[in-house]
Amino acid sequence: MTILVTGGAGFIGSNFVLDWLAQSDEPVVNLDALTYAGNLQNLAALQGDARHIFVHGDIGDRALLESLLAEHRPRAVLHFAAESHVDRSIHGPAAFIKTNIEGTFTLLEAARGYWNALQGDDRAAFRFHHVSTDEVYGSLAPDAPAFTETHPYEPNSPYSASKAASDHLVRAWHHTYGLPVLTTNCSNNYGPYHFPEKLIPLMIVNALAGKPLPIYGDGMQVRDWLYVGDHCSAIRTVLARGRVGEVYNIGGWNEMPNRDIVHAVCALLDELRPSAEGPYARLITHVKDRPGHDRRYAIDARKIERELGWRPAETFASGIRKTVLWYLDHAEWVANVQSGGYRDWLATNYTAR
Ligand code: NAD
Ligand code: TYD
Repeated sequence: MTILVTGGAGFIGSNFVLDWLAQSDEPVVNLDALTYAGNLQNLAALQGDARHIFVHGDIGDRALLESLLAEHRPRAVLHFAAESHVDRSIHGPAAFIKTNIEGTFTLLEAARGYWNALQGDDRAAFRFHHVSTDEVYGSLAPDAPAFTETHPYEPNSPYSASKAASDHLVRAWHHTYGLPVLTTNCSNNYGPYHFPEKLIPLMIVNALAGKPLPIYGDGMQVRDWLYVGDHCSAIRTVLARGRVGEVYNIGGWNEMPNRDIVHAVCALLDELRPSAEGPYARLITHVKDRPGHDRRYAIDARKIERELGWRPAETFASGIRKTVLWYLDHAEWVANVQSGGYRDWLATNYTAR
C-alpha cells in the first residue's frame, strides 16, 4: 500500500510525512512544486529512504497526476498543497486561485478517474483527504460559540475564499460523483519547520536576530493554536476511521490573543537564550493592521473527539516550549530559509507598514 501526499515539503505536509514514516512502513509519494514555502531540507532525515518518493511537480499538471496515480496506485490522496499565507494572498491573490482552486479541481478530476477504474476492495478503501482551515468560517464575535462543522462559510480573505472554494469542490465531487472524500478544517498550527513568515516562527527568528516583533493592530485578534504533531495525528485518525463525506473540525482548545502568544515566545526565549540587551519583549512594535483582519477563530472539536476519540496531546505550554527549543537547535535551517526569496517578502510586506 502507498499514499500520495501533495505539498509534503511544506510546514504541515513535511511534519505529516516524517510522522507517518516514523510510525509505519507504508511508502509515501510526495508531490510538491517547491514554491517559496516548500523546503526539501525539512525532509533531509529521509534522504536515501526508499519509503519516501519525492516528485517535483505541480498539482495543476493533470498528465503528471495521472501517471503518478497509475504508477504508484495509492490507497489514499492526502491533499496539503496550497498557497497558505493570508498576507501574501492580499498582495497577490492570483497564485491562490490557481493552486487552491484550479489545482484542487485538477487533483479531484485525476483522483476521480483513478478511483473510477479501481475495483472491489481497492475501490471501497480509497480516500481523498482534503486538508483545510477554520478560516473558511470567517470571523467570530468575542462571545460567539466556536465553529462547528455546520457553521456557515463566510471567508474574508483571498486565502480563505480560495480554501472555501476548494472545500466546496471536494464536497461536490463526493455528492455528484461519489468520490470518497474526507475534509478536515483545522485551526492555526505551530511547530518545527514552520516558515518564518507566520506569526510564531517570525517572532522567534526576529527576536533572536534583535529585530522588531511586529504585532498587527492592537494584537487582540484571537486564534486557536494547535501543535502541528497533533494536527498530523488527527489527520491519521480521520483517514483511518473517518466517515466518508464527513467534515471534521480540528482544534487545540486553546484560544489566545496574538499579544499573549508573542509575550509567551519572548518569555521562553528570556529563559532559554537570554539577551544581554534585556527582555525580548522590548522588541515588540505595533504596526498597521492587516486589511480585513479576522478578529477571532475558535474550533469546536467535539465531533472528532466523540466519533473518533481524538484529542490534542500537547498543551500550549508544552508545544510552544518544544517549538522554541526546535528553532534554537536548528539555526542552520533558519539561516537557509532566510536567504533568497524570503528577504524579498519581508520588504514587500513590512516596508510600507
Ligand atoms: P505551506 O505554505 O507551509 O506549504 C505548502 C506546500 O505546498 C509547499 O511545500 C509548497 O511548495 C506546496 N505547493 C504550493 N503550491 C503547489 C502546487 N501548485 N503544486 C504542488 N505543491 C504546491 O502550508 P502549510 O502551512 O503546511 O499548510 C498545508 C495545508 O494545511 C494547506 O492546505 C493549508 O491551507 C492547510 N492549513 C494550514 C494551517 C496552518 O496553520 N498552517 C491550518 C489549517 C490548515
Ligand atoms: P498568521 O501566522 O499569518 O496566520 P493566520 O493569518 O492564517 O491566522 O497570523 C496569525 C495571527 O498573527 C494573525 O492574527 C495575524 C497576526 N500577525 C501579526 O500580528 N504579526 C505578524 O507579523 C504576522 C505574520 C501575523
